Amino acid sequence: MALSKNQLLNASAKKWGFKLGAGKVVAGIDTDGMIQSVKNLNSYGISATVDHLGEFVRYEHEAIEAKENVLITLQAIKQSGVDAHLSIKLTQLGLDVDQEFCLKNMQDIMKAAKEYGIFVNIDMEDYSHLQMTFDIIKQLQVEYDNIGTVIQAYLYRSEKDIDNLKHMRLRLVKGAYKENEQVSLQKKEEIDANYLKLIKKRLLHPGFTSIATHDHNIINAVKQFVIENDIPTDKFEFQMLYGFRIDMQLELVKEGYSFCTYVPFGHDWYGYFMRRLAERPQNLNLVLKSLVAK
Ligand code: FDA
Repeated sequence: MALSKNQLLNASAKKWGFKLGAGKVVAGIDTDGMIQSVKNLNSYGISATVDHLGEFVRYEHEAIEAKENVLITLQAIKQSGVDAHLSIKLTQLGLDVDQEFCLKNMQDIMKAAKEYGIFVNIDMEDYSHLQMTFDIIKQLQVEYDNIGTVIQAYLYRSEKDIDNLKHMRLRLVKGAYKENEQVSLQKKEEIDANYLKLIKKRLLHPGFTSIATHDHNIINAVKQFVIENDIPTDKFEFQMLYGFRIDMQLELVKEGYSFCTYVPFGHDWYGYFMRRLAERPQNLNLVLKSLVAK
């Protein structure tokens, strides 16, 4: 997890290019590659949430460059007509540089997205950025309704946040960052139980919910809950990351559930890739298999 934030390794990874198996879980390094991947998913009835990778930006010029890349991504989605929306991290848009500066960058993005009719999801990062992220979303909501965000089930405060965001489109996840016991549940069983509790609560509320998990136990419990409570399938969708549990992604579509795949792309793949390895060491299999295949 610490390696995922290492600036030196990140810079080197960009230079080395698209090696070490990242291509299995990252959908290309440019817009053309991403659009091809999304078209392929769409052909199976799967929509996409597209992330032009980048995070923990420290300088204004990097954030401006990231914003330009996001605007190009939006244009590509619009022009190609693919079924996709945007996922974005605020640290990529300068949250660590200055909050007002980040807000301004986001306003430019939201304006273009609104014009193109594209929904924008603000990903949730580590706890130190959480309140600032909610503050910026609140300001953006004054002007834009095409915005949603992510709730992390490992945080104690998440149930309250769900209550405060009843009508917003939300993605529910377990949570990907290492947080301390002051703010976050630590045991897997407790996190899983809270995740399911939040999903059920949310499904009984008005807003649209994306249930983002690769956990078959959670998915099976959700399937049972929606049948028992007559919850229509257009009220929620399942989400998984690009390249993960592809058979299960296709199976869920076959069963009639809405499905959306998170499609990360771009040169800045290192932090994303390392976090996936840290989360689930078995994901190293993906790397090893791709090295053997070369
Ligand atoms: P978890 O990793 O807990 O696995 C549970 C069980 O499922 C495993 O024990 C295994 O049996 C099975 N399993 C899991 N992965 C498997 C695989 N690849 N192959 C076979 N079996 C597998 N986090 C965050 O903090 N902010 C965010 O904005 C987002 N956004 C986001 C979007 C999307 C679309 C997804 C899928 C996830 C996120 N996350 C996230 C990450 C999330 O918080 C979480 O860290 C990961 O999804 C890992 O947790 P899972 O719920 O997938 O299962």
